[in-house]
Amino acid sequence: MAIVHVTRELPGDALQRIPDAGHQLVVRREQMPPSPAELRRIAADADALITTLADRVNAELLDAAPRLKVVANYAVGADNIDVQAALRRDIAVGVTPDVLTDATADMTLALLLSVARHIPVAARTVTDGAWKTWEPAGHLGLELRGARLLVVGPGRIGRAVGERAAAFGMDVTYAGRDADLLAVLPDADVVTLHVPLSLDTRKLIGEAELAAMKPGALLINTARGGLVDQDALVDALERGHLGGAGLDVTTPEPLPPHDPLLELPNVLVLPHIGSATVTARHRMTELAVGNVLAALDGDPLPNPAKA
Ligand code: DGY
Repeated sequence: MAIVHVTRELPGDALQRIPDAGHQLVVRREQMPPSPAELRRIAADADALITTLADRVNAELLDAAPRLKVVANYAVGADNIDVQAALRRDIAVGVTPDVLTDATADMTLALLLSVARHIPVAARTVTDGAWKTWEPAGHLGLELRGARLLVVGPGRIGRAVGERAAAFGMDVTYAGRDADLLAVLPDADVVTLHVPLSLDTRKLIGEAELAAMKPGALLINTARGGLVDQDALVDALERGHLGGAGLDVTTPEPLPPHDPLLELPNVLVLPHIGSATVTARHRMTELAVGNVLAALDGDPLPNPAKA
């Protein structure tokens, strides 16, 4: 009988398939993620681990897990895991692609619409009692029809965002891995990021890229906070070079309540909820369990992380 540890409670009932298959299931029922020391203790007798993006799985942890056969990450990204270190130890790494594409693309459009139409600021005038009268020139935003959207990362989520944006009449272009970002950024009214975080993409959007963006342009990020040089972003927003930002992801997470980003008017920061629909999160549980059961049967993972 294998021991399967899950670092957090997961939505849906797919975890039940683990005891049904004759394995021992141990679910950690705390709201906060385990500390590195607790995670090492958990991993010590684990044949399989289901982790979230808040769990750092590095070589040190893997060395403390002599029986481990699989780490099934409850996310499409695996940047919290040293995938190479795991594969070198014959430990498989799984992710949960596809099932969160629509949820994340929807959230990207929600952020895009919010900052394009100054919703955070406008809503605050109502709750603060500062709304005095209907104003002909109040809260004027960007009309999406005809506006140019640059999707950085034409993968599953990037394409799903592009389809939605096209339905709003946006003129959508995609920038792939080989694109010269500095050449394409100046044309875009809105830039949205959909690439995985890696050594190559860390701070992909830095000072130079922000400076290359059109004055007044908007930046949307539902991928990973590490893709953006956040100090440079704050500076570009403070100087008024950018018109706003919609961020579901930041560095760090959670963002401290007094972070300068939160002081800026047309900035909406969300607590990393891109995949948070009932459907997506239930299906993510199913995929994570599928990865675990395959590995415990000695089969290839249905959804392995990219090496
Ligand atoms: C992911 O899956 O990588 C998201 O960021 C969390 O669902």
